[in-house]
Amino acid sequence: MSETRRAVVTGASTGIGEATVEGLRALGWEVVAVARREDRLKALAERTGCDYRACDLRDAEAVEEMTRSILADGPVDALVNNAGGAIGVDQVAEADPAVWSAMYERNVLTALNCTRALLPGMRERGGDLVFLTSTAGHDTYPGGGGYVAAKHAERIIANTLRQELVGEPVRIIEIAPGMVKTPEFSLNRLGSQEAADKVYEGVAEPLVARDVADAIIWTLTRPRHVNIDSMIVRPVAQATNTLVARED
Ligand SMILES: NC(=O)c1ccc[n+]([C@@H]2O[C@H](COP(=O)([O-])OP(=O)(O)OC[C@H]3O[C@@H](n4cnc5c(N)ncnc54)[C@H](OP(=O)(O)O)[C@@H]3O)[C@@H](O)[C@H]2O)c1
Repeated sequence: MSETRRAVVTGASTGIGEATVEGLRALGWEVVAVARREDRLKALAERTGCDYRACDLRDAEAVEEMTRSILADGPVDALVNNAGGAIGVDQVAEADPAVWSAMYERNVLTALNCTRALLPGMRERGGDLVFLTSTAGHDTYPGGGGYVAAKHAERIIANTLRQELVGEPVRIIEIAPGMVKTPEFSLNRLGSQEAADKVYEGVAEPLVARDVADAIIWTLTRPRHVNIDSMIVRPVAQATNTLVARED
């Protein structure tokens, strides 16, 4: 592995991905920030000195092409599969299959496409694969079915790969956050700022993007023989997906 480590961080246009780029850059890593919104990536690049690629990661061919261009500039030591998100809170009885497919594509296939594209080089040289799942990948809650199913599936990519690659120099890491107050996650899920604000109402201190970025970076900076298989990170005010302490 090279002296200066190089990471690809997906979902880097906002939230946890953006904070991870900032944290890795502050440690001197080279970073390629990836998401669809080029204007936000450009601003992040100007602020932090990262490189960036605008790409819809659901498109396997586009991911292959992007990866060729990233690898043309040098090898990649770590991939942070962070792009993802939830859509709606429909109960199973009312669920729209198209919405479930969209969540599967957004969380599972984006991670699969990026992992497949970067894995060959990592198997040769060593590398780290991080998967941003969720506590929704560990337990369910009413109204969470589609997102819970997608995050369980994403987690299974990590757990399966860890078995398939045993003995090879690739670390497979899962970070599973609970409630994180990021600017867009609940807004995208619920469709209005008012509904998004209610998610965090009365919660003393939800996690913020930087808390999760710190966890990601900590796992990446352990000695090479240490694989943090799975880390659940919640705010103190949250005990389960549904049991959250709220002040009046
Ligand atoms: N916030 C939470 O409470 C929480 C809790 C547990 C787990 N998580 C997980 O942690 C990750 C980050 O969360 P966050 O709160 O930072 O989310 P966020 O603010 O909603 O950001 C999601 C990121 O994914 C990118 N993205 C979505 N679809 C994409 C696609 N097709 N191609 C490329 N990029 C795509 C978005 O960028 P563009 O729109 O620019 O493409 C954005 O940068 C997600 O996987 C989320 O499910 C979040």
